[in-house]
Amino acid sequence: MSDISQSVDREALQKFSRDVSRSVLGGLNCALTFVGDHLGLYKGLADIGPATSEELARETRTSERWVREWLYQQACIGQIAYDETTDRFTMTPEARLVLAEPEHPAYLGGMLASVVAMFDTVDDLPDCFRTGIGQSFDDKGEGCACGIERMSRKFQSSYLVPNLLPSVTDVVAKLTAGALVGDVGCGAATSTIAMAKAFPNSEFVGYDISMNALARARHNIQNAGVKNVTLANPIDHPLPEDGSYDFITTFDVIHDSTHPDLLISAIRQSLKPDGTWLCADIQGKPTFAENLKDNALASMAYSFSVMVCMSAGLSVEGGAGLGTLGFHEAKAKEMSSAAGFTRFRTIDYEGDQFNAFYEIRP
Ligand SMILES: C[S@@+](CC[C@H](N)C(=O)[O-])C[C@H]1O[C@@H](n2cnc3c(N)ncnc32)[C@H](O)[C@@H]1O
Repeated sequence: MSDISQSVDREALQKFSRDVSRSVLGGLNCALTFVGDHLGLYKGLADIGPATSEELARETRTSERWVREWLYQQACIGQIAYDETTDRFTMTPEARLVLAEPEHPAYLGGMLASVVAMFDTVDDLPDCFRTGIGQSFDDKGEGCACGIERMSRKFQSSYLVPNLLPSVTDVVAKLTAGALVGDVGCGAATSTIAMAKAFPNSEFVGYDISMNALARARHNIQNAGVKNVTLANPIDHPLPEDGSYDFITTFDVIHDSTHPDLLISAIRQSLKPDGTWLCADIQGKPTFAENLKDNALASMAYSFSVMVCMSAGLSVEGGAGLGTLGFHEAKAKEMSSAAGFTRFRTIDYEGDQFNAFYEIRP
C-alpha cells in the first residue's frame, strides 16, 4: 500500500478521484432526474417558468420544501438555470427538449426510466457474474419494459414510417397493397402500431417472449384502436418458417436474444423468396479496441450490456450473450449469410444516433 502511494502522481490521483466522484454523482442525478421526469417537474417548469419553488410546487401539486431542494440540486448540476436576481428557476430550450418533450428525438426520459428500473436488480448481478447466467427481460421488471418503450417510441412513432421505410427497397408499395408483416421482438409494439396505422391493408404480427412487453403491447394496441395487429409469444407460437411473410422487422432484438442464430434462421425460413428483413441494431465496431477508440457511445453501451442486453442474451444455459455492441455490421453480414440470406445492404439513414439499419434479403 505505502509502496503504491509513493509511486502515485498526486495530481493524477486528484483528477482520477474527481472523475470517479463525477460518475458516482451521475448515479444520484439519474435517480433525481427520473423523479423530476416522473412527477412532471421539468414539464411543469417548462410550461410556467421562470418560476419560484412555490410556483412550481403549486403547478405540480408537490411539496414546496422537496421541490426547492430538488431545484437546488438541479441548478448545481446544470440541468436547470437559476437567476439569483429574481430567485427564479427556468429551463433552457435545450434542457426542455432533452427533459420535457417526450416526442422529441433528443428526449432522454425513457432511458432514465429504464436505468432506474435496472437499479432494482443490481443485487442479483453478483450471482450472474458467478454462475454466468443472466437475467431475462422479465426478470428486469415492468419498469425496464416501460423504459425501453419510452426510449423507442419517439423514433418508431414519428420517424419510422415517413423517414426510414421509404429507404427500404419496394417495401412501401408492398405494404400499401397489403402484406403479411412480422415485427419480431416487438416490445411494447410502438413500431408495429405505427406501421399498422399507416398500412391498413397489411396484417401485422408482433412477436415477443417477454410477458411484460406483451402486456404493454396489448394495452397500446387497444388504445391505438388498430385492428390489423395480433400478438404472439414465440414460445407457444413460433415464426411459421413456411415462407409466408413479406416483411419482417427486428428493432434492437438480435443482440439481446439468447439464440440469435436460430432466430435469424427462423426469420429466413419465414420470409417469401422476395421478402425483406429490416434489421435495426446498435451501431458498433467489430473489436473492443475499435469501440474504445472510435465509438462515442461505447461506455454507455457496455453499461447497458452488463445490466440488460448481454444479461438477457445469457439468461438461459448456452445463451449467446452477444452484448449491446455484439451485432455490428460485420457480424450481421456473417450471421445472415450463414442463415441463407444472400443480399445485405446497410441503409443510409442518419436519423438515429444508436442504431444502424440493414436491409437483408433471401
Ligand atoms: C431491446 S427490446 C426492443 C423492443 C422493441 N423492438 C423496441 O424497439 O422497443 C428487445 C425485445 O426483444 C425481445 N426478444 C428477445 N429475444 C426474442 C425472441 N427470440 N423472440 C421474440 N422476442 C425476443 C425481448 O423480450 C424484448 O422485448
